[in-house]
Amino acid sequence: MTENLDGTRPAKGVSAIAAKEGGGFPNPGLPPHAHRQGDHDRGAEKRAERIVAVMFLISVLGTALFIAAYFVFTPMDRNLLAEPGTLHAVRWSNLFTGLGLAISMFFIGAAAVHWAKTLMPDEEVSEERHAIAGSPETQQAAADIITGGLAESGVGRRPVIVTTMVAALAALPIAVLAPLSTLGPLPGNKLHHTFWKAGLRITRDHDGTPIRADEVAMNSIFHVMPEGLDSETPDYLEERAKAAAVLVRIDPALGKNQSSLDNGYEGILAFSKICTHVGCPVALYEQQTHHMLCPCHQSTFDVTDGAKVIFGPAHRPLPQLPIEVDAEGYLVARGDFPEPIGPSFWDIHKDK
Ligand code: FES
Repeated sequence: MTENLDGTRPAKGVSAIAAKEGGGFPNPGLPPHAHRQGDHDRGAEKRAERIVAVMFLISVLGTALFIAAYFVFTPMDRNLLAEPGTLHAVRWSNLFTGLGLAISMFFIGAAAVHWAKTLMPDEEVSEERHAIAGSPETQQAAADIITGGLAESGVGRRPVIVTTMVAALAALPIAVLAPLSTLGPLPGNKLHHTFWKAGLRITRDHDGTPIRADEVAMNSIFHVMPEGLDSETPDYLEERAKAAAVLVRIDPALGKNQSSLDNGYEGILAFSKICTHVGCPVALYEQQTHHMLCPCHQSTFDVTDGAKVIFGPAHRPLPQLPIEVDAEGYLVARGDFPEPIGPSFWDIHKDK
């Protein structure tokens, strides 16, 4: 067909609109098929063939590289570029074997795609849609099979078997719950409290030295731990994981949250370092924007607004540690975090 229903010529690149039996929208058809250069140019076809062959050959070279690298860049025994057994040796081994395998697989894929696109038959075919539902005879046959099967199984006549079968199937999933009883002790309220207590000095995480308020420069950040938390502390690692905090100093005039400022000291604010999303350490501080970023899923907390979440999947602000200064000018905690640190869970506000 070369003309539309109304006798006009179809737009360039579009087939004529065919009549639709029974009304409805006419089928706009397919655009005219554009043939590839290789379909009518023997030279182009040969060129495409050579490209495919070259890609397969590059793949062979990649495989050879992988095999060679596997033996001459081993992490432990022999390595041409580094001392065996060192991290460098592992890196060279990973690099060359990975590169070889990547080249090998990539060029097999690329060659196959290029082959299909340039050399394999380029025909457009269409298939008419048929009715999805089966014929009434087929539907009746299917219904007969089901009712016949039910009749043969005797479900209707054997209520005892049916009842016990339902009981057996319902009981089976309960077996899955049994291992839960061996998962270890419940956490109790351990997640609701940390090592921080009123009067504990705030110390630098890396060397344990206490921090004076006048040492905290504007826009600086300190990674801190409570005084007295050391390797002799019971459950040392767990306590460290819960108590980790950061200390930042902002210009109080920038503060948008008075109660957060009141829990700090002259713009020095302490927040839990544990992300309230799934618990990564929130350790990236943007001095210009006063945002703290979690590197795991980019949750962003506004320090000037009580560490409120302004972006990302976290749902609640970082808990703030109330602080003050002792008689010698050192920063101390005024108590524990007012709410559980870290990811939210079902009874997180149980203490309130
Ligand atoms: S753990 Fe921080 S954003 Fe996911």
